[in-house]
Amino acid sequence: MNARDSGDAAGSGEPENCGAVCRAALRRIASGVGVLSVRTGVTMHGTTVSSLTAVSRDPLLVGLCLVHDSVGLGLLKRRRDFAINILNTAQAATARWFADPSRPRGPEQFDRVEWKPDLFSGAPLIDGALAWLSCRLVATVDAGDHELLLAEVVDGAAREGEPLLNFGGRLHQVELADSVPRRLADASRRSVSGSAL
Ligand SMILES: Cc1cc2nc3c(=O)[nH]c(=O)nc-3n(C[C@H](O)[C@H](O)[C@H](O)COP(=O)(O)O)c2cc1C
Repeated sequence: MNARDSGDAAGSGEPENCGAVCRAALRRIASGVGVLSVRTGVTMHGTTVSSLTAVSRDPLLVGLCLVHDSVGLGLLKRRRDFAINILNTAQAATARWFADPSRPRGPEQFDRVEWKPDLFSGAPLIDGALAWLSCRLVATVDAGDHELLLAEVVDGAAREGEPLLNFGGRLHQVELADSVPRRLADASRRSVSGSAL
């Protein structure tokens, strides 16, 4: 069923009241999962996010969205420097933990994970993550019930592994396979300069 079949948009092409059908459609966007971490003088905080996306190559910018009442958002807007831990496929429990509103506030919330401080922001870099980004907040945009954040990537590191995926409102472990035979993929890489950041 689509929004028009359900009568929500009445076939007019206008997104009048897309509601549940459109939210279901949005849940079909597969995304990686990260933990945003921030350290201020007195505290540290982690927030699970799946809204992270690469935005610009020069300068290197990432975007992410946080709900207005997010504790992490408040701290991040004050501190401006923060880190993003891109989780690997075995870190679903970490993703759930940093989304759990009953977790302790303050540095104790990091007692469950091994971490080391980011040299740039002082924020926790979680051991075993697929990648780490050190970021500086450069702009915010009010976006409905969320705030859209734009941040410059000032440092980073990556390792081999598979990403944790958020899809259909659930976390998924994945084992990636090339969608085309490797010989064809190599040939197309030689002939086309990719647009990926
Ligand atoms: C897989 C997953 C992805 C999430 N992505 C986001 C996100 O992109 N933005 C957001 O505001 N909350 C997101 N959340 C919810 C927050 O992690 C959760 O509400 C958190 O406790 C609120 O943040 P806070 O601790 O900063 O208050 C996500 C939760 C999960 C489990």
